Order: sequence, then C-alpha cells, then structure tokens
Amino acid sequence: MLVVDKLSVSYDEAPALRDVSLEVTQGELVAIIGANGAGKSTLLKAIAGLLHPDAGSIRFDGQELAGRPPYEIVGMGLALTPEGRRLFSRMSVYENLLVGATPNRDQEARQALMKEVFDLFPRLKERQKQKAGTLSGGEQQMLAIGRSLMSQPRLLMLDEPSLGLMPLLVDQILETLQRLNQERGMTILLVEQNVREALEIAHRGYVLQSGRIVAADDANTLLHSDLVRRAYLGI
Ligand SMILES: Nc1ncnc2c1ncn2[C@@H]1O[C@H](COP(=O)(O)OP(=O)(O)O)[C@@H](O)[C@H]1O
Ligand SMILES: [Mg+2]
Repeated sequence: MLVVDKLSVSYDEAPALRDVSLEVTQGELVAIIGANGAGKSTLLKAIAGLLHPDAGSIRFDGQELAGRPPYEIVGMGLALTPEGRRLFSRMSVYENLLVGATPNRDQEARQALMKEVFDLFPRLKERQKQKAGTLSGGEQQMLAIGRSLMSQPRLLMLDEPSLGLMPLLVDQILETLQRLNQERGMTILLVEQNVREALEIAHRGYVLQSGRIVAADDANTLLHSDLVRRAYLGI
C-alpha cells in the first residue's frame, strides 16, 4: 500500500533522513521506533507532503506522492495525526471534527463518519460542545485521532500519540489503535517512543537511528532483539 524507497530529506544542509526504505501492507499495523531526534517526525511529514525529499520515492497504491501538496495526499486516503495534536483549542469538539472532514463535502457522509468516531470514542460524543482546549490530554489525543478519521483515510499515520500522557492513558490510546486496526481493518503507521507498548500492538517494526533504518523485523522479534533491549528498554 505504502512503499518508501531510499528516501533522503534534509533541513537546509543538515541531513535528517538518509536512504530510508520501508513498506506498509494493507491491514498492517507497523511501528517506527527511535530516540528523540532520530528523524521519525521528519519521515511522517515527508510522506504527508509537508516536507520535500531530496531523493527517493514515496508511492501510495502505486502513485508517487513526492511533489504533491498535502491536501491532495489527504484526498488520496492518507492522513497524519501530528505530534502535539494541533487542535483548534477555542473551537468545539464537533467543529474540530468537521475541519477534518474537509475533503468530504457530502453532509450525510460527514454525519456517518462522525458517528463512527463517536462509536470509537464515546467520551467525545458526550463532550461535543466543549472547547477542545479544555479537554484532558487523553481526550485531546482522541479528538486528534478522530479528526484524522474524518478524512476517511485508508492509511492512518500517527506521530507519538501517547506523548505526555500518563501510563494508563498511553495503554488506552494504543489499545484503541489496535482495535481500529483489528476490528475496522484500518492500516496504521505508528511512530512511538513507548517502544515496548508500540511493539506489543504492532505486526512489524522499524528502528530509526540518526536518520537511518537500522533494524526491521516482526514486532515480537524486534521486541526481544539485543538492539531494542539494550538501546530502548534498558535491559
Ligand atoms: N524544522 C527543522 N529545521 C532544522 N532541523 C530540524 C527541523 N526539524 C527537525 N530537525 C532536525 O532533524 C532531525 C530529526 O528530527 P525529527 O524528525 O523531529 O526527530 P524525531 O521526531 O525522531 O524526534 C533532528 O536532528 C532535528 O534537530
Ligand atoms: Mg518527533
């Protein structure tokens, strides 16, 4: 579904990603793990069209994405829930969700999508009229994910959805992503620093270090590998 081939991205002269190749197949939940500054956000932003690659290709269902504007990429069925959520804090939950539905102009379709989001996150339904900025951290993350789902993605990318949440909520958010994948067949590319939790729900994983993929394997194999145990789990 998504094929990234030898992707290189830099900021001015400074290289941030070098020769990154990865694949996501329909129905998979794939995790990308790596320390702060490894290039995880850069990778997701390049795929979403927010950064322009120096070299390499990004194909989605066989179509090249590099060079396309972000809105076109969203319209093709690829959504990004960005790091730090980026909600409109003075707008209501309902209004934030509608913003996510921009590519979908049909009123009935929007209501149906909204219902699906509320089924997944009943708390958002109860708080429809509440301003996004007054939600708890966990609820804000639910809203950010819900907003992405409103564009009806076939591939959902998430940049550290558990960032800043307490452990109980980290588990809840990641379990929700697992349900989204298993029960609704959503294909997911997940960036996480909670390495153990991410690899426990993923099918496969990639390890990114200083802009390069240094390991790629089944999630369970990665979780028990020397590299991951030493570098990310401290055991
Ligand atoms: N806007 C930017 N301008 C210049 N350098 C940046 C910018 N954003 C990120 N970088 C650099 O690129 C590298 C990768 O960053 P990033 O993709 O944000 O890593 P991660 O998400 O894994 O923490 C880091 O060295 C970071 O300092
Ligand atoms: Mg990041």
